[in-house]
Amino acid sequence: MLKEIREAADFIKSNFSEQPKIGIILGTGLGGLVNEINIEKSIPYEQIPHFPLSTVEGHSGRLIIGKIGGVSIVAMQGRFHFYEGYEMKKVTFPVRVMKVAGIQTLFVSNASGGLNQSFKVGDIMIITDHINMFGTNPLIGPNMNEFGPRFPDMSAAYSKRLIKRALEIGQKNGIELKQGVYVGTFGPTFETPAEYKMFRLLGADAVGMSTVPEVIVAHHAGMEVFGISIITNAGIPGEAKEVEEASHEDVQKVASAAEPMMTKIISELVVDAVK
Ligand code: HPA
Repeated sequence: MLKEIREAADFIKSNFSEQPKIGIILGTGLGGLVNEINIEKSIPYEQIPHFPLSTVEGHSGRLIIGKIGGVSIVAMQGRFHFYEGYEMKKVTFPVRVMKVAGIQTLFVSNASGGLNQSFKVGDIMIITDHINMFGTNPLIGPNMNEFGPRFPDMSAAYSKRLIKRALEIGQKNGIELKQGVYVGTFGPTFETPAEYKMFRLLGADAVGMSTVPEVIVAHHAGMEVFGISIITNAGIPGEAKEVEEASHEDVQKVASAAEPMMTKIISELVVDAVK
């Protein structure tokens, strides 16, 4: 495994004109951030040694190397989901590759269903914490001591420093930002009304099918993490109402509509993050 990670990282590093410190995983419908990147290289995943290939609609599968606001970054356009059938080690492989390639800070974005009743469809939520409901963990198996400890602390997986800066950027630009707990579950079904209710009772504000595995692996490896989520559908719109139907098309549509705001936040935060 380590050998494959190193080979992929070496390949990626050979494409850097300058060492980036920031890695970005572009989630559902957030590919628009790509337009903010001054692209130097765009590498299809199939050209990267040992990289998994992405299959899901709306994810194209390229590693982008370039600059945002003059800051070198590497971005994954297309991620790997557990529901696609990839093992956790594959889902999180690119994060470890980024780490070995010198990335210190990981930005992750996703789409999620809202559970907090004060949230509206289209809201942007900064992830302050997560609940792992994948029923597994990417760190199961022999510990890779090169990356981090056997029993990693998870009390501060999401960088308080970056959350604070993101809130400031939001305020400065008149973009309202919610904060909350993301529960990650395996999917691919959206939740039943009873499941949405259960996740709310567990203390989550939004539910989605990604992010948690990557964040666990990034945090294990000592990377600073910032996560942000677009609320694309209401799991619990109100006590008296039925749960709104969730569809992939609606998720994509709402995510696209929120894109300019997300782009603003992330592109400013990237510049702040390296300060
Ligand atoms: N549940 C799980 N994942 C999601 C949802 C949802 O309601 N919306 C977008 N991704």
